[in-house]
Amino acid sequence: MTRRAAVILAAGQGTRMKSPLPKVLHAVGGRTMLDHAIDLAENLGCEKIVVVAGPHSPAVIEHATQRLGETSVAIQDPPLGTGHAVRAAEPALAGFDGDVVVTYADTPLFTAEAVLPLFELRGAGAEVAVLGFEAADPAAYGRLILGGDGALLRIVEAKDANEIERTVHHCNSGVIAASAPLLFELLAEVRNNNAKGEYYLTDVVALARARGLTARTASAPESVVMGVNSQAELVVAERLFQEVRRSRALEAGVHMVAPETVFFAHDTELAGGVSVEPHVVFGPRVRVEAGATIRAFSHLEGAVVRSGAVVGPYARLRPGADIGEAAHVGNFVEVKNVSLGQGAKANHLAYLGDGEVGPRANIGAGVIFCNYDGVFKHRTVVGEGAFVGSDCALVAPVTIGAGAMTGSGSVITRDVPPDALALERSPQVEKPGWAAAFRHRKRAEKAAR
Ligand code: UD1
Ligand code: CA
Repeated sequence: MTRRAAVILAAGQGTRMKSPLPKVLHAVGGRTMLDHAIDLAENLGCEKIVVVAGPHSPAVIEHATQRLGETSVAIQDPPLGTGHAVRAAEPALAGFDGDVVVTYADTPLFTAEAVLPLFELRGAGAEVAVLGFEAADPAAYGRLILGGDGALLRIVEAKDANEIERTVHHCNSGVIAASAPLLFELLAEVRNNNAKGEYYLTDVVALARARGLTARTASAPESVVMGVNSQAELVVAERLFQEVRRSRALEAGVHMVAPETVFFAHDTELAGGVSVEPHVVFGPRVRVEAGATIRAFSHLEGAVVRSGAVVGPYARLRPGADIGEAAHVGNFVEVKNVSLGQGAKANHLAYLGDGEVGPRANIGAGVIFCNYDGVFKHRTVVGEGAFVGSDCALVAPVTIGAGAMTGSGSVITRDVPPDALALERSPQVEKPGWAAAFRHRKRAEKAAR
């Protein structure tokens, strides 16, 4: 296989987002658009990935450097067009003689499946391969002008197009592949004598033709090529992303009565046979095993739910929650960095943070793992089959031994041995007739006013 590299363009200003957060760091499916673009390049088998960023976005430079390393970030300053942007990546690709694919960092829905045909075209002898799509409304997109033999003659930007060219609906997605040495050679010839006064990447097509080389197009669905320029378009991208994930989950055998109310992250893993009730939100890094049920209005993030477990309604699983086989986490229970053993239960109103709950242990309503002393976090361990009474505060670090019980309302500050009962409560007193006498007195006072 010809070696592959990617150049991801991210030097645009993104001003239409009207946000202090750089455009490409906005998330779709819980992952930044920049990361989606890098994922795509990785999925395409690119061994070298160069992100072209602008000096106006230090956060983008930082993000790309963190993920790919310093040698994978190129700076374009000032931005003089897409062709100029790709040239900024040339030093980072010095000596690379494989294929380069150019993509954008603000098109989060591209799939490897949609882009791979470009490499096939390259393999079949086309020197330049362009990914096109049929635009419902071609508006500002570049138009793909094909010859009689179906080969691509040139790409005309909307602003430079004549009336006839503007009627073409076959448009440029922006994704282009060519061999690296040829691409940079052609880019060196690109001039900016056009409507925008920019160096257009798209001009490499006509320049290749002029050398007697061949350019060809592949086609992608419009839903996959969409770019994000505004908050409203971000919403559309998110909606399209969610639609894809919902159908994928249904195809994989996930049962959902109202999939349109269930929200997925880019990496949500639901096994076939999982049941998801309405209004569930999956944040990043969630895995749910077969036969588990996520009940309505639950929010999960960084969690594993094992087979046969039931979570919710109204449960919150935070990073590090590991809900064991057939365990139950009920309404208004928050679990963070705690594993629940097989068949363990925390059915109502509890906070379980930092620790572990053994198999078949029962956590009563209102139990709190007091994990934080204001400086450090501490662990709470509840042994197998232990019974933690309602409204207990377990002040960590603390261990409740296997089979032990804690009396309702206790504040547990010391370890409880296995099979013991721990009780921390002031003695109860009863005053016979006191309530009736009190009522009698108060009513008399009220009548006297
Ligand atoms: C570009 C294409 C057009 C295509 C459309 C698809 C060109 C000349 N035109 O047009 O044919 O239909 O995309 O969406 O290529 N960028 C830089 N530096 C620059 C300019 C742009 O990094 O100097 C980046 C932007 O951040 C963006 C991408 O390149 O991610 C596309 O730039 P944009 O200005 O949106 O191109 P369009 O005019 O939409
Ligand atoms: Ca654009």
